[in-house]
Amino acid sequence: MSAPLSLSAGFIDYLPQLLATNEHQAFLDACAQPPKKSIRFNRLTTSAERHGEIAAGHGWQLQPIPWCDDGYWLTGEESPGNALEHVAGGFYIQEASSMLPVAVLQRLWHQQHGPSTPARVLDMAAAPGSKTTQLGSWLAGNGTLVANEFAASRLKALYTNLSRCGVGNTILTNHDGAIIGNALPDWFDAILLDAPCSGEGTIRKDAKAFANWSLPAIHELVATQRRLLESAFKALRPGGLLVYSTCSLNTLENEQLIDRFCADHGDAERHDLRPLWPQLAAIHHPQGHLKIWPHRFDAEGFFVAALSKAADAAQQPRTEARLSPRFPYQPLSAKEQLQCRQLAADSQQLSLPEGDYWQRDGTIWLFPEAARDLLGRLLTNRPGLKIGEIHGRELRLDHDAAIVFAPLLQRRIAVNGEQARAFLAGQDIEDDAGRKGDWLLCYQGLPLGLARAAQGRLRNRLPRDRVRQTTIADHDS
Ligand SMILES: C[S@@+](CC[C@H](N)C(=O)[O-])C[C@H]1O[C@@H](n2cnc3c(N)ncnc32)[C@H](O)[C@@H]1O
Repeated sequence: MSAPLSLSAGFIDYLPQLLATNEHQAFLDACAQPPKKSIRFNRLTTSAERHGEIAAGHGWQLQPIPWCDDGYWLTGEESPGNALEHVAGGFYIQEASSMLPVAVLQRLWHQQHGPSTPARVLDMAAAPGSKTTQLGSWLAGNGTLVANEFAASRLKALYTNLSRCGVGNTILTNHDGAIIGNALPDWFDAILLDAPCSGEGTIRKDAKAFANWSLPAIHELVATQRRLLESAFKALRPGGLLVYSTCSLNTLENEQLIDRFCADHGDAERHDLRPLWPQLAAIHHPQGHLKIWPHRFDAEGFFVAALSKAADAAQQPRTEARLSPRFPYQPLSAKEQLQCRQLAADSQQLSLPEGDYWQRDGTIWLFPEAARDLLGRLLTNRPGLKIGEIHGRELRLDHDAAIVFAPLLQRRIAVNGEQARAFLAGQDIEDDAGRKGDWLLCYQGLPLGLARAAQGRLRNRLPRDRVRQTTIADHDS
């Protein structure tokens, strides 16, 4: 069923600058169509062999999204948001078009560098994290992924999504992205700038998406996008790769912005993205970008461009890193790190990786590889992964660490759908196996969280803010 569109007079006046007259009606008709459901499986938790099995369990039919190996359009009665596998980080509900920017970054990167992944990645405007979790799924725990979001109110959703999907190699920051270039010049190998935008492409999801569309509002956004792109390019190392994307369709936020940027920056090299998916002519842009018009290709509107910084671009001066005396974490010495990893092995039978461990008020943290170089230059909201707390001879694991290290945890209990739902609703579970200590509960191999076994019960250790009150569907096979 199509929804009534609410278009502003300003947008209707602008349309002739975007599309030939004979396309207007087809575009408006396509905008009025309901959005197609799509999901992206999370490689950190779910292998490709399981995609079909999970879908079949819910009666979903999957149709592959051509630019994302783990992405599918999905049909079926049951809502994917209610599936236990979703809560357990098995997949992310994401528009097909929104998977395109990271897919571009991935393909270009591998063309240039073979199978290795970038060591330092920035997602400059990250919340709620659909693309950060996609980046995390690609990086598979390697390197440092900086997820920045300016709106403090959106950080919680970003963090919760990263936690749910088991992305542990992240540093969360809460800055205006425009300051990052000066703080960390020439620092990142790869950057995604999924810019704040007018969102015209999301009209199928939100019929009022451009009810208040106006050219002055667009010009204001363009000013922000320019500042962010300047900063992102500055933060990119020579030879590094930058993907710019928006879910808007006007040329001011997209083609014109990139044209002007390239005209002003001799060291910016624009990529022709058309050869990445030569068969998808409907989304090819004459200037080599990718642009999804919903009436030409049945998906949400989107724009993606990619730039490299010339390998011989002049290096920029960098200020000396200075860790604030108020930074509340202290690094563990080599000996303390060893002791801490030994505690995890003894008390949790968990072999923690070598790395950069820190402590804060009795809690242990693992910072991503490049954190030390970043810490003195940028304030962080969450500088790494909380591993847990030391209680006597026990390292009591944190929920996030249990999800990230789930494949390494030996003390695991497979629960059925009913038990999983009870656990996710915050309840304890009966246990007559005489177990003791912390155990990871898993549903269909996917980690749900920790429970502490004692006296015939598995006591729920799910963080209170993750307890779900909603109905969750499962499939017991
Ligand atoms: C298009 S949304 C990002 C969506 C996200 N990349 C995803 O895929 O889930 C743009 C984000 O930019 C944030 N933002 C707005 N101004 C910003 C700024 N100056 N610096 C960094 N982020 C900003 C917004 O709060 C919003 O969360």
